[in-house]
Amino acid sequence: MLYAGRMPNPAAPLLLLDDAAPEAPVRLPQYAPLSSVWEGNDADLLERMFTFYASIEVEPILDATYNVGRFWKGSTRKIVSMDIDPKYKPDIVADNREMPGVGNDSFAVVVYDPPHVGPQGRNKSSKRFDVDFGATMPCGAEHGWILSYLYPPFLQQAKRVLKPNGLLLAKITDMVNNHRSRWAHCDFMRMAEEAGFTVCDLIVKVRKGPMLSDKWKTAHHARKRHCFWIVCRNATRCER
Ligand SMILES: C[S@@+](CC[C@H](N)C(=O)[O-])C[C@H]1O[C@@H](n2cnc3c(N)ncnc32)[C@H](O)[C@@H]1O
Repeated sequence: MLYAGRMPNPAAPLLLLDDAAPEAPVRLPQYAPLSSVWEGNDADLLERMFTFYASIEVEPILDATYNVGRFWKGSTRKIVSMDIDPKYKPDIVADNREMPGVGNDSFAVVVYDPPHVGPQGRNKSSKRFDVDFGATMPCGAEHGWILSYLYPPFLQQAKRVLKPNGLLLAKITDMVNNHRSRWAHCDFMRMAEEAGFTVCDLIVKVRKGPMLSDKWKTAHHARKRHCFWIVCRNATRCER
C-alpha cells in the first residue's frame, strides 16, 4: 500500500470494511495525491504537507522565522516559535543560524520563511512591507544582491535540531534585484543537499497578485506571482 510506513492520518475519512459491522467503523489512512501547484493558503498547504510527507509524528514543530505566526492562525499544532526580532515575542528570541540552547534531534518539523528582500546598502529600508515582514537583513553588492548567504548556517542548525527523518519545509521566493533575476530557490535546494538533506519536492505556490514596487514602471522581468515551498527530509532518501 502507498501509505505503508507513513503516519496514520487522523483526518482520514472513516471507512467501513466490507466485513465490518456498521457500528464498528475502522479508521484507515487513505492516500490522497498532492498537486505540485498550490493555489490555496500557506496554512492549508502546511497541513497537507504534514499528512503527505511526514513519516514520524509531526510535533513538536519549530517555526524558525515566526514573525506574527500567520501560518498558525487557527491551528492547534504545538509550535515553538523563533525569531531574531524580540518585538514579535517568540518563544525563543534567537538567530536561526545559531539556535543557542536548542537541543539536538528535538523537532520533527522545522518551518522556514526567510526574508527575500532587504536593505541594499544605499538606504535603510523602511517600507511598510519590509517592516511588517522583517526584511532587515542586508542584501546589497557585498552579498551578491541576494540573501542566500543566510541559508548554509541555518541549514546546519536545522539539520542538528531535526530528528532523523524529520522535515524541513522552506518557503522561498525568487526576486529581481539590481536588474537581474536572483534564483534563491536554486541556491536553497543546492545548499540543502550540501548540508545533508534530501530535497524531496518543490511545490509552486501561486499568489493572488504579484508583489509590486513603485520603482518598477517597465521592468523586463515577468511579475512573479508565485513562490516555492521546498520539502527536505533529514534522511538520505525521500521515501522509506
Ligand atoms: C517573511 S517573515 C516570516 C513571516 C511568517 N512566516 C508569517 O507568516 O508570519 C521573516 C521573519 O524572519 C525573521 N528573521 C530574519 N532573519 C532571521 C534570523 N537570522 N533568525 C531568526 N529570525 C529571522 C524576521 O524577523 C521576520 O520576522
